Parts: sequence; C-alpha cells; structure tokens
Amino acid sequence: MGKELFKPGNMLYPLPVVMVSCKRENEKANIVTIAWAGTVCSSPAMVSISVRPERYSYDIIKETGEFVINLVTEDLAYATDYCGVKSGRDVDKFKEMKLHECPGVNVKAPGIAESPVNIECKVKQVIPLGSHDMFLAEVVGVQVDDKYMDETGKFNLNSTGLVAYSHGEYFNLGEKIGKFGYSVKKRG
Ligand SMILES: Cc1cc2nc3c(=O)[nH]c(=O)nc-3n(C[C@H](O)[C@H](O)[C@H](O)COP(=O)(O)O)c2cc1C
Repeated sequence: MGKELFKPGNMLYPLPVVMVSCKRENEKANIVTIAWAGTVCSSPAMVSISVRPERYSYDIIKETGEFVINLVTEDLAYATDYCGVKSGRDVDKFKEMKLHECPGVNVKAPGIAESPVNIECKVKQVIPLGSHDMFLAEVVGVQVDDKYMDETGKFNLNSTGLVAYSHGEYFNLGEKIGKFGYSVKKRG
C-alpha cells in the first residue's frame, strides 16, 4: 500500500457550503459563499466563518457584527456558486439570482427566503489567521422553512436536499447509511 505525500493544505472534506448574507444600513444586502465554516460550540451555540479581508462582505460583517448562515440545497447550488465567484461590489446577487430577503428576527441582516434554514449570528471575536480572518459568532436565532415540519413537530432537515462541497465540487448527500449511535444499538 503506497501513499503520496502532499504539501500541507486544506483537505478536510466534505464540508457544508453555505450562503452567508449580510447588510449595512441603507445599502443593498449581499451574499458571500463560504466553505470555511464550522460549528464550534453547543452551549452557547457558536459557529465560525473564515473570510478573506479583501471580500466585499468582510467589512460589512466586521462593521455590523452580524451575519446569517443560509443552508444550501440542490435548488440553490447554482446561486451558491454564482455568489462565490461574483462580488457584491459589482452586482446585486439577490437580484441577479432572483432570491428574496427574509427579515432576521434577532439580527438586522436578512436571511435568504429560499434557504430552508437561516442561522442568525452575532460576532463575538475576529481572529486574524493569515489569508482569512475567522469570525467567531454566537447563534442568536434559527428560522426554518415550515414546509419541512411534520405533524409530530419534527423538522425534516434531511429532506431538504442539502449540498456538500468536497475538493472543488458540489454534491448532494446520497443515501442514509446509519444514524447517531447505531453502531452500539442492540438489534431487535
Ligand atoms: C465553493 C466556494 C467556497 C468559498 N469559500 C470561501 C470562504 O470560506 N471564505 C472566503 O473568504 N471566500 C470563499 N469563497 C469565495 C467568495 O465567496 C468569493 O470571493 C465572493 O465573490 C466574495 O463575494 P463578496 O466580494 O461579495 O463578498 C468561496 C467561493 C466558492 C465558490
């Protein structure tokens, strides 16, 4: 069995790819596609996004201290890619991609109405790392599309068609192959 030695680089895949929305008062809202995002704490619920300072969104997020993470579904994959190659300096991404703003409940930044989950975040720390600055943020609200709620009150997130990003390519999630704890569950 052989191994190739690669130079150090980012190879932690698959990842969620998300659309992060942000807005300064009296300006158009913007969307930036982010793959360097993660869950970092359960209680309080905290997340991180890493953003290059040269992004148009960077100053907006830094100044307002707010952003919304919008989960990406197959229907949003094309718009996600577009929002990751076009800058809000040049285009209105909501308008170009025919997306709609949904008002934040606990932040002034809008979410994306077409996304099934809008995670409202308030920045706690900005940590310069090198190419990217990491925004460590607390989750202050979560809005979900009621279309995916069933009669028992369960939110069927895995029916929304979520997308993963791996090594430069977008994928849907494929078949379910297990559930949390199934390796130790007694078979009935
Ligand atoms: C799949 C994908 C993932 C990306 N992930 C990041 C990221 O994690 N951090 C970042 O700063 N830029 C990332 N980008 C690049 C920005 O989304 C891109 O430069 C965008 O045009 C910036 O928009 P803005 O100038 O309107 O803020 C990613 C792009 C794509 C297509």
